[in-house]
Amino acid sequence: MAKHDGNVDKQRRMLLGAGIGGCVGAAFGARIEQVKAAATASAGDVLVYFKGDNAGLPIDPSGLQLLEPVLAKPQSPDGQVREARENVVTVVRVPMDEMEADIEDMAAGDIVAVSAICSHQGCFVSDVGTFGTAEGKLACTCHGSIFEPRAGGERVAGPAERGLPTLPVTIDGGQLVATGGFTGKVGP
Ligand code: FES
Repeated sequence: MAKHDGNVDKQRRMLLGAGIGGCVGAAFGARIEQVKAAATASAGDVLVYFKGDNAGLPIDPSGLQLLEPVLAKPQSPDGQVREARENVVTVVRVPMDEMEADIEDMAAGDIVAVSAICSHQGCFVSDVGTFGTAEGKLACTCHGSIFEPRAGGERVAGPAERGLPTLPVTIDGGQLVATGGFTGKVGP
Protein backbone atom coordinates (compact mmCIF):
# COMPACT_ATOMS: atom_id res chain seq x y z
CA MET A 1 0.00 0.00 0.00
CA ALA A 2 1.32 3.46 -0.91
CA LYS A 3 2.49 5.44 1.98
CA HIS A 4 0.08 8.26 2.79
CA ASP A 5 1.82 11.63 2.60
CA GLY A 6 -0.21 14.17 4.53
CA ASN A 7 1.90 17.11 3.37
CA VAL A 8 1.37 16.27 -0.32
CA ASP A 9 -2.40 15.97 0.23
CA LYS A 10 -2.43 19.29 2.04
CA GLN A 11 -0.54 20.98 -0.81
CA ARG A 12 -2.93 19.45 -3.38
CA ARG A 13 -5.93 20.75 -1.44
CA MET A 14 -4.37 24.21 -1.24
CA LEU A 15 -3.60 24.27 -4.96
CA LEU A 16 -7.11 23.06 -5.79
CA GLY A 17 -8.60 25.68 -3.52
CA ALA A 18 -6.45 28.38 -5.04
CA GLY A 19 -7.49 27.27 -8.53
CA ILE A 20 -11.20 27.33 -7.72
CA GLY A 21 -10.82 30.60 -5.86
CA GLY A 22 -8.94 32.08 -8.79
CA CYS A 23 -11.67 31.00 -11.25
CA VAL A 24 -14.44 32.35 -9.03
CA GLY A 25 -12.49 35.57 -8.53
CA ALA A 26 -11.88 35.96 -12.26
CA ALA A 27 -15.55 35.25 -13.06
CA PHE A 28 -16.65 37.74 -10.39
CA GLY A 29 -14.24 40.35 -11.74
CA ALA A 30 -15.51 39.79 -15.28
CA ARG A 31 -19.09 40.20 -14.04
CA ILE A 32 -18.21 43.46 -12.33
CA GLU A 33 -16.66 44.67 -15.58
CA GLN A 34 -19.83 43.66 -17.45
CA VAL A 35 -22.02 45.53 -14.97
CA LYS A 36 -19.76 48.58 -15.18
CA ALA A 37 -19.86 48.49 -18.97
CA ALA A 38 -23.64 48.09 -18.95
CA ALA A 39 -23.92 51.10 -16.68
CA THR A 40 -21.86 53.43 -18.79
CA ALA A 41 -22.91 55.32 -21.90
CA SER A 42 -20.93 53.96 -24.83
CA ALA A 43 -20.48 54.23 -28.57
CA GLY A 44 -23.49 52.88 -30.45
CA ASP A 45 -26.03 53.79 -27.77
CA VAL A 46 -29.23 55.37 -29.06
CA LEU A 47 -30.46 58.33 -27.02
CA VAL A 48 -34.05 57.92 -25.89
CA TYR A 49 -36.42 60.34 -24.19
CA PHE A 50 -36.06 60.22 -20.42
CA LYS A 51 -39.47 61.66 -19.54
CA GLY A 52 -42.91 62.37 -20.91
CA ASP A 53 -45.23 60.56 -23.29
CA ASN A 54 -42.30 59.46 -25.45
CA ALA A 55 -40.16 58.14 -22.59
CA GLY A 56 -38.06 55.26 -23.83
CA LEU A 57 -38.51 56.12 -27.51
CA PRO A 58 -35.59 57.32 -29.63
CA ILE A 59 -35.16 61.06 -29.72
CA ASP A 60 -36.26 62.61 -32.98
CA PRO A 61 -33.46 65.05 -33.81
CA SER A 62 -35.71 66.99 -36.16
CA GLY A 63 -38.07 67.70 -33.27
CA LEU A 64 -35.48 69.45 -31.11
CA GLN A 65 -36.07 73.18 -30.87
CA LEU A 66 -33.31 75.74 -30.59
CA LEU A 67 -32.13 76.08 -26.96
CA GLU A 68 -34.94 73.91 -25.64
CA PRO A 69 -33.12 71.15 -23.75
CA VAL A 70 -34.47 67.63 -23.57
CA LEU A 71 -33.41 65.00 -21.05
CA ALA A 72 -32.33 61.66 -22.49
CA LYS A 73 -30.87 58.32 -21.52
CA PRO A 74 -28.67 56.03 -23.60
CA GLN A 75 -30.00 52.70 -24.79
CA SER A 76 -27.42 50.05 -25.54
CA PRO A 77 -27.35 48.35 -28.96
CA ASP A 78 -29.04 45.30 -27.40
CA GLY A 79 -32.01 47.45 -26.41
CA GLN A 80 -31.32 48.00 -22.71
CA VAL A 81 -31.80 51.51 -21.37
CA ARG A 82 -28.83 52.37 -19.18
CA GLU A 83 -30.76 53.30 -16.08
CA ALA A 84 -27.98 54.62 -13.85
CA ARG A 85 -28.66 58.25 -13.00
CA GLU A 86 -25.15 59.17 -14.11
CA ASN A 87 -26.13 58.41 -17.71
CA VAL A 88 -28.80 61.08 -18.02
CA VAL A 89 -27.85 63.69 -20.58
CA THR A 90 -29.21 67.03 -21.65
CA VAL A 91 -29.63 67.24 -25.39
CA VAL A 92 -29.85 70.72 -26.81
CA ARG A 93 -29.78 72.30 -30.24
CA VAL A 94 -27.56 75.40 -30.25
CA PRO A 95 -27.01 78.12 -32.86
CA MET A 96 -24.47 76.55 -35.19
CA ASP A 97 -22.56 79.80 -35.71
CA GLU A 98 -22.13 80.13 -31.92
CA MET A 99 -20.77 76.63 -31.30
CA GLU A 100 -17.16 76.41 -30.12
CA ALA A 101 -14.99 74.93 -32.85
CA ASP A 102 -13.53 72.20 -30.66
CA ILE A 103 -17.02 70.89 -29.88
CA GLU A 104 -18.10 70.44 -33.47
CA ASP A 105 -16.60 66.95 -33.79
CA MET A 106 -18.63 65.80 -30.78
CA ALA A 107 -21.89 67.36 -31.94
CA ALA A 108 -24.46 66.00 -34.35
CA GLY A 109 -24.57 69.11 -36.51
CA ASP A 110 -25.94 71.71 -34.14
CA ILE A 111 -27.06 69.21 -31.48
CA VAL A 112 -24.97 68.80 -28.35
CA ALA A 113 -25.36 66.24 -25.53
CA VAL A 114 -23.84 66.93 -22.11
CA SER A 115 -24.19 65.24 -18.75
CA ALA A 116 -27.33 66.32 -16.91
CA ILE A 117 -25.70 65.77 -13.51
CA CYS A 118 -24.28 68.92 -11.97
CA SER A 119 -20.61 68.70 -11.14
CA HIS A 120 -21.22 70.66 -7.93
CA GLN A 121 -23.53 68.42 -5.86
CA GLY A 122 -25.23 66.28 -8.44
CA CYS A 123 -28.58 67.98 -9.09
CA PHE A 124 -30.14 67.67 -12.53
CA VAL A 125 -29.14 70.44 -14.90
CA SER A 126 -31.93 70.74 -17.37
CA ASP A 127 -33.14 74.29 -17.45
CA VAL A 128 -32.01 76.92 -19.86
CA GLY A 129 -31.32 79.89 -17.65
CA THR A 130 -32.89 83.18 -18.45
CA PHE A 131 -31.67 85.09 -15.43
CA GLY A 132 -28.82 87.57 -15.47
CA THR A 133 -26.46 86.89 -18.32
CA ALA A 134 -27.29 83.19 -18.41
CA GLU A 135 -29.77 83.29 -21.28
CA GLY A 136 -29.38 80.29 -23.49
CA LYS A 137 -27.09 78.54 -21.03
CA LEU A 138 -27.77 75.49 -18.90
CA ALA A 139 -28.57 76.44 -15.34
CA CYS A 140 -28.55 74.27 -12.25
CA THR A 141 -31.33 75.58 -10.08
CA CYS A 142 -29.94 74.04 -6.87
CA HIS A 143 -27.16 76.57 -6.29
CA GLY A 144 -27.01 78.52 -9.53
CA SER A 145 -24.13 77.00 -11.46
CA ILE A 146 -24.28 77.86 -15.15
CA PHE A 147 -22.88 75.89 -18.05
CA GLU A 148 -22.44 76.69 -21.72
CA PRO A 149 -23.94 74.14 -24.13
CA ARG A 150 -22.27 75.93 -27.06
CA ALA A 151 -18.96 74.92 -25.45
CA GLY A 152 -19.98 71.37 -24.61
CA GLY A 153 -21.01 72.08 -21.03
CA GLU A 154 -18.14 74.35 -20.00
CA ARG A 155 -18.62 75.98 -16.59
CA VAL A 156 -19.56 79.65 -16.82
CA ALA A 157 -20.42 80.59 -13.24
CA GLY A 158 -21.53 79.34 -9.85
CA PRO A 159 -20.12 77.04 -7.21
CA ALA A 160 -19.40 74.13 -9.57
CA GLU A 161 -15.67 73.91 -10.18
CA ARG A 162 -15.87 71.83 -13.34
CA GLY A 163 -17.98 71.81 -16.47
CA LEU A 164 -20.34 69.05 -17.55
CA PRO A 165 -18.72 66.30 -19.60
CA THR A 166 -19.88 65.95 -23.19
CA LEU A 167 -21.34 62.80 -24.66
CA PRO A 168 -20.22 62.75 -28.32
CA VAL A 169 -23.12 62.09 -30.67
CA THR A 170 -23.99 61.75 -34.31
CA ILE A 171 -27.17 61.20 -36.29
CA ASP A 172 -27.47 57.70 -37.68
CA GLY A 173 -30.60 56.42 -39.37
CA GLY A 174 -32.56 59.41 -38.11
CA GLN A 175 -31.59 58.67 -34.51
CA LEU A 176 -29.22 60.38 -32.13
CA VAL A 177 -26.42 57.91 -31.43
CA ALA A 178 -23.43 58.17 -29.06
CA THR A 179 -20.05 57.84 -30.72
CA GLY A 180 -18.20 57.31 -27.43
CA GLY A 181 -18.46 57.64 -23.68
CA PHE A 182 -18.49 60.82 -21.61
CA THR A 183 -15.44 63.01 -22.09
CA GLY A 184 -14.87 63.37 -18.36
CA LYS A 185 -16.07 62.62 -14.86
CA VAL A 186 -19.84 62.73 -14.38
CA GLY A 187 -21.21 64.46 -11.31
CA PRO A 188 -19.35 65.81 -8.26
S1 FES B 1 -25.76 71.05 -7.39
FE1 FES B 1 -25.72 72.33 -9.14
S2 FES B 1 -25.04 74.22 -8.40
FE2 FES B 1 -25.04 72.93 -6.68
